[in-house]
Amino acid sequence: MDVALKIWRYDPESGERALKRYEVEAPEWACLLDVLDIVKDQVDGTLAYRKSCRMMICGSCGMRMDGRAILACKERMKPIVDRGHVPVISAMGNMPIVKDLAVDMGPFWQKIRAMKPWIEPGYEEYPEGGEFRHSQEQMNPIHKEALCIMCGCCVSECNSMEADPDFLGPAALAKGFRFVGDPRDQAKVERLELYNSEHGIWDCTRCYFCNERCPKGVDPRDAIAKLGAESIKEGIDRDMGAKHAKWFVRSAVTTGWLRETELVPKTQGLVSAIKETKFALSLAKRGKVPPPFPPHVADKQHEARMLRDLIATQGRDGALGHVQGERALSRIEHAVMADPDHAGRRRDAPEITPGEAPVNRDIGEQP
Ligand code: SF4
Ligand code: SF4
Ligand code: FES
Repeated sequence: MDVALKIWRYDPESGERALKRYEVEAPEWACLLDVLDIVKDQVDGTLAYRKSCRMMICGSCGMRMDGRAILACKERMKPIVDRGHVPVISAMGNMPIVKDLAVDMGPFWQKIRAMKPWIEPGYEEYPEGGEFRHSQEQMNPIHKEALCIMCGCCVSECNSMEADPDFLGPAALAKGFRFVGDPRDQAKVERLELYNSEHGIWDCTRCYFCNERCPKGVDPRDAIAKLGAESIKEGIDRDMGAKHAKWFVRSAVTTGWLRETELVPKTQGLVSAIKETKFALSLAKRGKVPPPFPPHVADKQHEARMLRDLIATQGRDGALGHVQGERALSRIEHAVMADPDHAGRRRDAPEITPGEAPVNRDIGEQP
């Protein structure tokens, strides 16, 4: 097939950037990485990019296609060619470009190191003649986070990092949960304290771009949510973000609404709220502040309470990825309310060990 693509070239010596078009012939099975290899081999040997495994394992070939981070070895070119589209390939975002499509991963590794990515087992020697064994079930909560290949695609798309390059970021925080959730690790509280410091978990804007772009389904934003939940469980809630989250839940559970009038004092404290009085009055004058009394209570407020109760049962169910409100809502609607006999049944997620074939539990057979 004939493939055309445009590549943002960057020359570190002159600092010049140029968008160049390339047209090559490639086999129909080619992925973007194959096409780049052909360009480098047959058209311009100076093109710089990274690769190693060519099978979505090593995490080396992260780059952007049409402004979205991808793994070049995962992106099939045939559907793109069939559409007649000419994609634009560029280096990943939020990391300094070294040359063409290769970025400096130094800041990425620095943040991974800051997470203390090793197990602190809390013992020095194995029990006499034995070993510490852990079941797959115990390890399931960190299954998704352990899939990370450290490609940097999530970091490339992180809005918060764009505003604050010191933000720990999705990859490092997913790595953090991989250790916080590890049953062998005994340094959970110290870790959570560390991840709750400035530029930590509460600086995430919850844009979910990292979940959308991760090529391995790690869902780093979910890992950050789990770190937040673990922190609050451990009483680590000094950050404004934690206070904000706590009030959000309390407000939703008691009225089904976010009581915005109380949000500022509950999040920032009374003194800070008093300082905002002028701003609050100007909002009130324009009808933007609902009267705090009597609080407005939603019609089906009990649904908010049910959602909170359902989420509370989920624990660290990271392996199956159940921290998303919409999934929980769908289960309330269909599994609990529409079918009270099967309350709590997990319709959308059979409880299986990742990697095992799903078993139809109703009839006890493989489907
Ligand atoms: S979380 Fe996903 S996108 Fe981010 S570094 Fe790991 S594998 Fe790559
Ligand atoms: S959800 Fe948070 S960590 Fe993920 S990309 Fe957005 S700001 Fe970054
Ligand atoms: S070359 Fe290893 S992930 Fe693409």
